[in-house]
Amino acid sequence: MIIGILKEPAEESRVALLPEAVKTLISWKVHVWVESGAGKKAFAADGLYQDAGAEIHSRKKLLEDADLLLGIQALEMSEIDTMKPESVLMGQFNALYNPKLTNHLIEKNRTAFSMELVPRTTRAQAMDVLSSMATVTGYKAVLMAADLLPRFFPMFMTAAGSITPSRVLILGAGVAGLQAIATAKRLGATVFAFDVRQAAKEEVLSLGAKFVDVEGAKEDKGAGGYAVEQTEEYLQKQKDTIHEHALKADVIITTAQIPGRRAPLLVEERTVRAMKPGAVIIDLAASSGGNCALSEPEKTVEINGVRIVGVGNIAAQMPQDASKMYGKNYLNFLKLIIKEGQLNLNFEDDIVTGTCVCHKGKPVSPRIIQIQPNS
Ligand code: NAI
Repeated sequence: MIIGILKEPAEESRVALLPEAVKTLISWKVHVWVESGAGKKAFAADGLYQDAGAEIHSRKKLLEDADLLLGIQALEMSEIDTMKPESVLMGQFNALYNPKLTNHLIEKNRTAFSMELVPRTTRAQAMDVLSSMATVTGYKAVLMAADLLPRFFPMFMTAAGSITPSRVLILGAGVAGLQAIATAKRLGATVFAFDVRQAAKEEVLSLGAKFVDVEGAKEDKGAGGYAVEQTEEYLQKQKDTIHEHALKADVIITTAQIPGRRAPLLVEERTVRAMKPGAVIIDLAASSGGNCALSEPEKTVEINGVRIVGVGNIAAQMPQDASKMYGKNYLNFLKLIIKEGQLNLNFEDDIVTGTCVCHKGKPVSPRIIQIQPNS
């Protein structure tokens, strides 16, 4: 069996598997082919893959001859058509929200897995790329804010006077938010955090941050631990509370998301305009509508001296460790579908089923079946 590791599109700097992960794969009695230059931006030259036992080939050869193709970002549809019919494609295609690609995979009778579909269960935790990448994102977002901020994060007592610690407000305490809290705390800031899920409160407090309470949030036990959409009344109460905290904040990092919906608007224009000049907002939800009214995807905008960073794929800014984590998640998933050097798709396994967009053109994941027009 040949596993092909694809080079990502120009805007991506991660790679699905680094050489160390390739070494592990090869010990499972499979052949690994790597597209030339695939690891370059993650500082893994072709030679390192060869040292790990892989062969370097062209993209064309990988698409035409590999049995299992691994990548991160989606492929061009025309490329999907050149893959050999029985091969399996894996990546992070955002399959639920990219119907064009999902339908194409189905129409062309493909077998494809999309890693963002990995169920968020305890057993699947070691395969959860969303959590891994959110960890990178939360960490890096704080460093970006610290870099832009015209102040120190920690408190200083110096001969030149005392410096008070920066005040950081984290909105949304999921995986990225909790990592942002931990990183801002390590840098010495005073951290406040807010989330609609009460379960997040304990985690926020355990990291040494203060929890901002807004009573009356709606929760749904059936939402798998995720947040659900809130009432207009609650959202307004929340915006008012955030407004009060934002006036004193040096940094706001927003991470609030609701799967399948526009990100909730938490920081209003009036709030940005009332903030201290020099303050920094990092909006991690900018590409799904934005938690801040004035953020723009992939841009940094400045309003009255407040800079709002609407950066998207932050994990790509730390390609080495992001790829390392990605590769580890992939290996843990591949363990489920490779037996004795051969593909063995066991659809009795809820992780395999949950992650499979389609098998030979048939939708498999219950979440994909649910969005089919005639379901
Ligand atoms: P996410 O990226 O979907 O959202 C980020 C955060 O924003 C969440 O904590 C959410 O509650 C919060 N949020 C949504 N609307 C908000 C609003 N109006 N105001 C303030 N905050 C708001 O979430 P993420 O980080 O992917 O994880 C969320 C939950 O998923 C976890 O707490 C956990 O329950 C579950 N999870 C389970 C895993 C597993 O068991 N394998 C792994 C990771 C997460």
